[in-house]
Amino acid sequence: LDDLLGEGVSGRRVLVRADLNVPFEKSNPGTISDDGRIRAVLPTLVALRDAGARVVVCSHLGRPKGAPDPKFTLAPVAARLGELLGSAVVFASDTVGADAQGKAAALTDGQVLLLENLRFNAGETSKDDAERGAFADQLAALADAYVDDAFGAVHRKHASVYDVPARLPHYAGGLVLREVEVLKKVTESPEQPYVVVLGGSKVSDKLAVIKALLPKVDKLLVGGGMCFTFLKAQGHEVGKSLLEADMVQTCADLLEQAQGRIVLPVDFVAATEFSADADHVTVPASQIPADRLGLDIGPESVALFAEAIGGAKTLFWNGPMGVFELAPFAPGTRGVAEAITKIDGFSVVGGGDSAAAVRTLGLDETAFGHISTGGGASLEYLEGKTLPGVAALEK
Ligand code: 3PG
Repeated sequence: LDDLLGEGVSGRRVLVRADLNVPFEKSNPGTISDDGRIRAVLPTLVALRDAGARVVVCSHLGRPKGAPDPKFTLAPVAARLGELLGSAVVFASDTVGADAQGKAAALTDGQVLLLENLRFNAGETSKDDAERGAFADQLAALADAYVDDAFGAVHRKHASVYDVPARLPHYAGGLVLREVEVLKKVTESPEQPYVVVLGGSKVSDKLAVIKALLPKVDKLLVGGGMCFTFLKAQGHEVGKSLLEADMVQTCADLLEQAQGRIVLPVDFVAATEFSADADHVTVPASQIPADRLGLDIGPESVALFAEAIGGAKTLFWNGPMGVFELAPFAPGTRGVAEAITKIDGFSVVGGGDSAAAVRTLGLDETAFGHISTGGGASLEYLEGKTLPGVAALEK
């Protein structure tokens, strides 16, 4: 971005790929529940705007099926972006159609336009190079230069991430640069002890990263829905808790390979159903009743995890410990997050859900070393995969 600003951007149309895929309140679907991803891209947008660029912002939101779907409109994001920028944001009701073309052409110096959801177009996510390329041609035609500041999407081989940079002079935004720098440090030279905390619902989603991390970490603490498949592999009954039956043997193999470095919760908050009002009790991991499901790790687990976290010089955390969005099941995630804020080493919070947990639980963001905007992207980086969006910028 500094290179682009150095060349001078006044009057030039700059397409910025951002990751504005923000969560919305479940009970109030039009209301953004965490605007962290919008705030994370502000420095890039402000720098371009203040330098007189005509800024065309694009992003995906959710996973619509390649056609317009009002549930996934970026209109509320345009309004919030305008509030945060302190200047009105023009919104196009399509991505590359007549409205977008007209509004991009009419931009004046320092104005910001947000295009409608990229994924309303089948070409954005297509596996067919020609179909993706055709959509990338239309996007690229809206601007003279391209900035990728969508770290959360760099692991997607999508038109706006992978194909547009082949068509326009391309630059990395400050957010992408900073994220890659931090993850590189954690991956290549983590100061020991290196402790990783993983949560979230599915082991199958995290399998590749667990395999990649096991040889490197001193401790891998596993909570969230995914830990029940590990508990089952240890011979415990897990009641109605989340279970991936076809992954039990894999978890048993991982536990053997880890030789004690995988640490599992020792107690749970077990509820009768998935609801904030459900009757809930704290039980040892070996005594989850058959008619209950674990929705959070218990206080003894928090203490056990906090002890391991306390000694870390490098710490990476991805995935909540429980259903933190429901108050009775938030203490596990809160307790682990608070323990992470106290380490005297370097902590990285990787991911949409854990980053949102930090903010919605009201924790002090500055007490973490780095809060990543990318969930899948940071995990794929840690797995050692080539990220298509980063590769496209490096070309
Ligand atoms: C994310 O939420 O991790 C990014 O915005 C990417 O979204 P996706 O998994 O739908 O591609």
